Amino acid sequence: MKKILITGVTGFAGSHLAEWLLLNHPDAEVYGTYRLRSRMEHIEGIKDRLRLVECELRDAQSVNEMIRTIRPDYIFHLAAQSFVPTSWNSPADTLIVNQIGQLNLFEALRKYDVDATVQIACSSEEYGHVLPGEVPIREDNPLRPLSPYAVSKVGQDYLAYQYYQSYGLKTIRTRTFNHTGPRRGEAFVTSNFAKQIAEVEKGIRPPVIHVGNLKAKRDFTDVRDVVRAYWLAVEQGVPGEVYNIASGSAYTIEDVLAKLLQKSTVQIRVQTDPSRMRPSDVEILLGDYEKFHRQTGWRPVIPFDQTLQDLLDYWRARI
Ligand code: GDD
Repeated sequence: MKKILITGVTGFAGSHLAEWLLLNHPDAEVYGTYRLRSRMEHIEGIKDRLRLVECELRDAQSVNEMIRTIRPDYIFHLAAQSFVPTSWNSPADTLIVNQIGQLNLFEALRKYDVDATVQIACSSEEYGHVLPGEVPIREDNPLRPLSPYAVSKVGQDYLAYQYYQSYGLKTIRTRTFNHTGPRRGEAFVTSNFAKQIAEVEKGIRPPVIHVGNLKAKRDFTDVRDVVRAYWLAVEQGVPGEVYNIASGSAYTIEDVLAKLLQKSTVQIRVQTDPSRMRPSDVEILLGDYEKFHRQTGWRPVIPFDQTLQDLLDYWRARI
């Protein structure tokens, strides 16, 4: 029986992946790490079928103990500080959680001689400053990170490459472009806007939506398509390789806002909030997922409008 470990199972992608695995691989043992302060709401409906293990990735001893006892066959390393603006306020913490956390995981696998296939959640943010002739972005594009978060992901990415080259650790790197859907953390743009709209509809907020930079362009994939891609990555991906996971279409954040506002039942005014602007923002992320498609046959199937509708309905049900 396969043992599958998800770090960060209580998070957005982690909870969707756990659900997908329980449904599609009912014979597998699905383990997930959490921290004492982790909120459990995303896995409320499935936690009885998960094997939850308390683990602090910053702490090598905690990670060693977890790996020694589970000895997983597959690992999805999703736990991270994943919000770009937080990385300007807490750059050191972002680097420690993301890079040292992963280092601890890799060293534990070496220490206990665990021959796992490890998916590493890298990010399109690593591409950072993309030049006009470079879209859609392929995996061999230069990495020009524009935030401490992006730098932390470049580090994770190259650490995974290096551990494959040096020790034969079976790492598979996925550079995932923006993804969203129900349960997306409310700090992230789609979810933040959807929540504000749901609050206006309920009458608990004046009919004004606060926004940041609307000119940026992003490539959004539904999280449910993304977690399916993660599984294909460990099953059919080539260890040592890196793959873009993207939709292949980009929208300005202004377009995304317009799509959400169209779904609203009330009239809402848009107001720019300077505190939502970033010291530097990636102008355009538009991914080419051809390499991953050729390797696994994956392509996204959930239309963006459906994703946004499900996200808005998620907030409507919660507020
Ligand atoms: N969060 C937020 N809130 N973003 C806003 C807002 C707002 O009110 N208004 C405009 N934006 C713009 C941001 O400036 C950015 O250009 C874009 O919306 C998307 O912001 P986020 O949703 O915060 O995501 P991100 O692109 O910075 O990063 C996400 O995608 C990466 C992959 O490219 C995160 O999910 C990362 O973890 C992920 O690696």
